[in-house]
Amino acid sequence: MRVVSGIQPTGNLHLGNYLGAIRQWVALQDSMAAGDECLFFLADLHALTVAIDPKELAGNTVEMAAVLIASGIDPDRSILFNQARVTAHSELAWILNGTARVGWLNRMTQWKDKAGKNREGASVGLFAYPVLQAADVLLYNATHVPVGEDQKQHLELARDIATKFNGDFGVDLFTLPLPLVSKAAPRIMSLRDGSAKMSKSDPSDASRINLIDGDDVIVQKLKKAKSDADVLPETVDGLAERPEARNLVTIYAALADQSAESVLGEFAGKGFGAFKPALADIAVATLGPIRDRMTALLEDRAAIGAVLENGASRARALAAPTLRAAQAAVGLQI
Ligand code: TYM
Repeated sequence: MRVVSGIQPTGNLHLGNYLGAIRQWVALQDSMAAGDECLFFLADLHALTVAIDPKELAGNTVEMAAVLIASGIDPDRSILFNQARVTAHSELAWILNGTARVGWLNRMTQWKDKAGKNREGASVGLFAYPVLQAADVLLYNATHVPVGEDQKQHLELARDIATKFNGDFGVDLFTLPLPLVSKAAPRIMSLRDGSAKMSKSDPSDASRINLIDGDDVIVQKLKKAKSDADVLPETVDGLAERPEARNLVTIYAALADQSAESVLGEFAGKGFGAFKPALADIAVATLGPIRDRMTALLEDRAAIGAVLENGASRARALAAPTLRAAQAAVGLQI
């Protein structure tokens, strides 16, 4: 099993990233068998596809690495690095640009959402973004890619690119990666709008719980989270037309490692006046220690830089043979 996944070092890491992705990463790392490998990286090259502040990017990358370590990623067991330090990602992405089709990229919902109506003014990088993401996983022959539901389409594209490349060049080079989408929290929604994904780019900070939020901020955000006036139902079906209520129950269940049914077993018949404080308690109990560990780790940023450098050199060694084989397959003389 070869597990690979990444996260963009833009904005704030939030509860959706934690429940949808990072917790799965930690669980996979903790259940690794001999011969398995987990690679987790900060996708700083992907961050360049939208407007970023160059003065902030490197600092954000270190901060996000600290959050990952604080959340349980152990750099001795997992390979933790930033994408830009392993140049094979960019090199393979360029080769795969020759394989990916414009029509495939045009169908990506994230491209459509992010470019919006201004496609002509969007960066070429934003359009080609999923090709770099394909390179990220194909470079390591990833077998499993733990992601939130929003990234599933990009992984399907990576499989299409791998299949076409292998077929076009008559090689058996790339492994087809399987997306692993968390069952408990595939898509955590905004606290202000049950129809929008919780996202780093939402202008409203109240829409998300950031992993750096203080305990009282977490409590306030959950208190003000949009809900409804009904009591909680006895079954999950009763939440079908109540997106905000469903989201809060999903968050509770994921944080408590329980099923939504068992959460409803405890809270059926109670309103949000009773549910929200209980949710705030469990959120603070889970996220508070992560934030505190992160703050302590950031006292020594140089140490985190050294961890990333070490991870990058391990990643480079794993990436080199695949890159060389891809170059040879397309006839490049390197
Ligand atoms: P990014 O940085 O947007 O998000 C990182 C991870 O968090 C998941 N996620 C969510 N899960 C549940 N609910 C949400 N509201 C939510 N918001 C985000 C994402 O699905 C993701 O797993 N393109 C990727 C980064 C990337 C990558 C890769 C991932 C670059 N290369 C290779 C996997 C493999 C991204 O922008 O994720």
